[in-house]
Amino acid sequence: MDNGRAQMRFDGEVVIVTGAGRGLGREHALQFAARGASVVVNDLGVESGGDGADVSVAQTVVDEIVAAGGTAVADTHSVADADGAAAVIDTAMKAFGRVDVLVNNAGIISFGLFGDLTDDQWHQMQSVTVDGAYFMSRAAWPVFRAQGKGVIVNTTSNAGFAGCPQLSHYGTAKLAIAGLTKSLALEGEELGIRVNAIAPMAITRMNRDAFFSGAERESDDWQEELRTGLIPMGPAEIVSPTVLWLAHQSNTVSGEIFSTSSGKVARVAFVVSEGWFDPNHAPEDLRDNAQAITELGDYLEPKSTGDELAVIPPLFAMQNH
Ligand SMILES: NC(=O)c1ccc[n+]([C@@H]2O[C@H](COP(=O)([O-])OP(=O)(O)OC[C@H]3O[C@@H](n4cnc5c(N)ncnc54)[C@H](O)[C@@H]3O)[C@@H](O)[C@H]2O)c1
Repeated sequence: MDNGRAQMRFDGEVVIVTGAGRGLGREHALQFAARGASVVVNDLGVESGGDGADVSVAQTVVDEIVAAGGTAVADTHSVADADGAAAVIDTAMKAFGRVDVLVNNAGIISFGLFGDLTDDQWHQMQSVTVDGAYFMSRAAWPVFRAQGKGVIVNTTSNAGFAGCPQLSHYGTAKLAIAGLTKSLALEGEELGIRVNAIAPMAITRMNRDAFFSGAERESDDWQEELRTGLIPMGPAEIVSPTVLWLAHQSNTVSGEIFSTSSGKVARVAFVVSEGWFDPNHAPEDLRDNAQAITELGDYLEPKSTGDELAVIPPLFAMQNH
């Protein structure tokens, strides 16, 4: 019990957290394990840009979980590889016999103005971020379908839905995750599978590399500077409760994205403005009505592709078309 409230527990459930060796993923794994879940701590142990590999990173978090009385196994496959992703699911099935929750958290970061970005940077980002979430979700899907139950929590970013200089490759990949989340949620509805995403901000290695360079990264001051700097950030541990809330079997939410940072949790929506309507318009009409087209005013939040068309007046069918 917590202040007289029943604790949200995960006893008997199996949770896979990708990229759980560091930062946000590590915190998610620790908090799931502390509430009774058996956790697969997946991490390839790469540098923040995606190079290298260190198999000890995942095991370190497993050791922490076990030392605290929890249950976990390490997995060091890359999520960016179809066979690797299938092997992560195998690790869970062999160790625990089921998968209840998949947290697609593994990610990398690199920086470059669009004109300087290399094809390698672009492809590596799409590979880990988009292919990684795709391969992992695809490998988990048949297990979830057979169980009639499963939850995916993806990780998107405000660099995708708001944009960010030097991160066009990252923002593109992260917004793809929002799209994957929305469509999988709709398909998962009749299968008992829920799919949501978080858009976090937290003091992690990724933001160290976003805000600091050279020797600054090596000093211990960067965490304090992120906490109190121009864009003050909270620790990773205050993000994880959003993941646990979304993953818990008492939650029915699906297809949503939640911004979660420094203690504030808020739903992120893609909305379509009320707009302007004339089924016979020319480009000049759009120029002359740009304000009505652009301003948000009353808006619709479509929950499927049909929703957006459903509000257009039936006039279209009646006039010259
Ligand atoms: N930190 C933030 O403020 C922030 C903001 C928005 C989104 N995110 C997202 O949150 C997630 C976690 O970020 P973080 O800040 O904790 O970063 P981090 O660098 O601290 O941790 C990411 C982990 O993912 C692992 N990883 C990378 N590629 C992998 C692969 N192919 N297979 C398996 N593991 C792999 C790394 O080894 C690392 O341990 C990422 O998806 C990131 O894009 C973070």
